Amino acid sequence: TMLAIGCDHGGFQLKKAIEAYLEERGIEYKDFGCPDETSVDYPPIAAAVAHSIANGECERGILCCGTGIGMSISANKVDGVRAAVCTEPYSTEMTRRHNNCNCLCLGGRVLSPEKALELVRIYLDTPYEGGRHQRRLDMIAQIERGEL
Ligand code: RB5
Repeated sequence: TMLAIGCDHGGFQLKKAIEAYLEERGIEYKDFGCPDETSVDYPPIAAAVAHSIANGECERGILCCGTGIGMSISANKVDGVRAAVCTEPYSTEMTRRHNNCNCLCLGGRVLSPEKALELVRIYLDTPYEGGRHQRRLDMIAQIERGEL
């Protein structure tokens, strides 16, 4: 499993905490920036992470900005990416079970590192359920193709 990781300045500290957690767990990741807390625009970083997921280089991603919202709006523009902003455990579990979320978006100005790492753990450890939910994900792919 290769994870794609990215952030802007608002999510930089959180990204560092997440990378330390991934290293602790022996999970491989590719860091798409940014490299420090200097102010940067989030859309190109979201795009790089999203494309790496869409083209199969990475299986899933995690994006951090101030709220997680700008990253999610940007990442969801790329076909095949299902990005979700999460702030609490239940939604994090359900976006894996039901939406097969492949890009978790977190807010460094919203979550404590402890809370965020709990959500990362849930995101990594919860499987997609498939079944009736696949029909709905197929419909999302239809929207991407302009068929819906
Ligand atoms: C940057 O100040 C902030 O707008 C960004 O990190 C993010 O929260 C956007 O959604």
